Amino acid sequence: MSEPTLKIGLAGFGNVGAGVFKNLEKNRHLLRERTGCVLEIKRIAVRDPSRERSFPLPPGLVTTELSDLVDDPEISIIVELIGGTDRAFDLVKASLESGKAVVTGNKALLAERGHELFAIAEANGRPIHYEAAVAGGIPIIKAVQESLIGNHIQSVVGIINGTCNYILTRMSEAGLSYSDALGEAQQLGYAEADPALDVNGWDAAHKAIILASLSYGRWVPCEKIHVEGIESVRTEDITFAAKLGYAIKLLGVIQLHDESGSIEVRVQPSLIPANHILASVKGVYNAIMVRGDIVGNTLFYGSGAGQDPTSSSVIADIADAAMWTQPTRGAGLATHSLYGETLPISESVSKYYLRVEAEDRPGVLARIATVLGEFGIGILSVIQPEDHDEKYAAIVLMLHYAPYGIVSDALAAISNLDCVRSRPVLLRVEDLK
Ligand code: HSE
Repeated sequence: MSEPTLKIGLAGFGNVGAGVFKNLEKNRHLLRERTGCVLEIKRIAVRDPSRERSFPLPPGLVTTELSDLVDDPEISIIVELIGGTDRAFDLVKASLESGKAVVTGNKALLAERGHELFAIAEANGRPIHYEAAVAGGIPIIKAVQESLIGNHIQSVVGIINGTCNYILTRMSEAGLSYSDALGEAQQLGYAEADPALDVNGWDAAHKAIILASLSYGRWVPCEKIHVEGIESVRTEDITFAAKLGYAIKLLGVIQLHDESGSIEVRVQPSLIPANHILASVKGVYNAIMVRGDIVGNTLFYGSGAGQDPTSSSVIADIADAAMWTQPTRGAGLATHSLYGETLPISESVSKYYLRVEAEDRPGVLARIATVLGEFGIGILSVIQPEDHDEKYAAIVLMLHYAPYGIVSDALAAISNLDCVRSRPVLLRVEDLK
C-alpha cells in the first residue's frame, strides 16, 4: 500500500521557513517511515519573491497570495511563519475555517490573540500546533501538554530568549559591549526581524504567556504582566554580579500562588547564584525548569533560536498535524530498515584514562609504553605522583582515540607484565558534544 501524500502550504520563507523546506527535504525518507505519510510542500507564499535570500526560493511553488494556500482544497496543513499579528491572524483564522490544520511559530500572535484563535480552532474542530513558538528547538510545549499532564504546575522558570542569553554571555565572557554582542546575534540569525522585541523582553514575555496558558489553562493579558528587557544591563553589572557570586540572566517566571490562586507572570533580568544549573546555560541556548506537584523539578535544555533547531519543532508539528489529518502509523516509530546493526563494543572508539599500579623501578614506564605502542595506541599524557609507598607507584596515562577491543587486548597484556601489581583501571573519556 502506498502512503498518502499530505500537501502543505508554507506561508513565509525567512530564516525558519527556509529551514523547514530544507530539512523536510533532508529527512524526507525518515519522516515518511515515521509518519506513514509523504509530506510535500505544495505552495510557498512570500510577500516579495525578488528579495535576496540565503536559501533560494524553490522555483514553481511560489505565490504572493496567501489565499492561494487557503483556497487550495488539496492543501490540508498551513504553516504560518510570516510573523506579525494582523495578516497572520487572518491567515490562521481562514485556514481553520476552511478545515485545515495549522502550524505556527508565531508567539506574538498566540500571546495576543490566542484566546480568539483557539476558540475558532475548537469551533471548527481543527488543531493549532505551536511547538516552535516557545524556546526554538526545545520540545517544551509537548512536554507540558503531554508528559506532565498529571501534574499541577507549580512554577516555570526559564531562559527563553536566545538573543538575550547570547548577548549576556558574550558581554560576560568576551567583554563585548551590549551593541557589539547584539550585532553578532543578529548576524547569526537569532534575533527577531525587529530585535527590539528580543532585548526589551517582549519576545520572552510572549513565550511566558503561552507557557502560562499551557500550565494554567488561561490566557494572561499582555498588560497584566511585568516585562523588563536587558537594555540597561552593562558589562560592569555582569562583573559586579560575578564578584558577588551571581550570574545575570533574562528570566521568564510563571508561578502559581496557591493561597490566592493567582498566577504571577513576569520577565526580568535577574541575578541567579553562579552555581545554579541555569547559570551554566550559555550563548543561544535556552533552558526551562518546570516544577510539578508530582514530578518535582524538571529541566529542558536546547537551542532556543536559529534556523535548524526552530525548524525541527515546526517539522514535529507538521508530522503531528499529518497524523491527526490522516491517522496512519502513529508517532515516533522507525522501521528497522532505516538503521544498521548494533555496533560491537570492540569497535567503539574513544580516548581512555588508564591507571596502572606498578613497581617503582627504572624501565617500568617504558615497558607499559612499549605494550601500548605495539597495539598502536597513542599516549596523550602521563602522570606519576611522587608521593607513593616504597615499592609501588600509580601511573596514570591518558590514551588517544582507539577501538575498545584493541585497548582491552592491550590492557590484558599490561596486566600480565610482572612489574604490574593488580588489574589496571581503564575508564572511557566521553566526548560530550
Ligand atoms: N529571537 C528569538 C530568540 C527566536 O532569540 O530567542 C526564537 O523565538
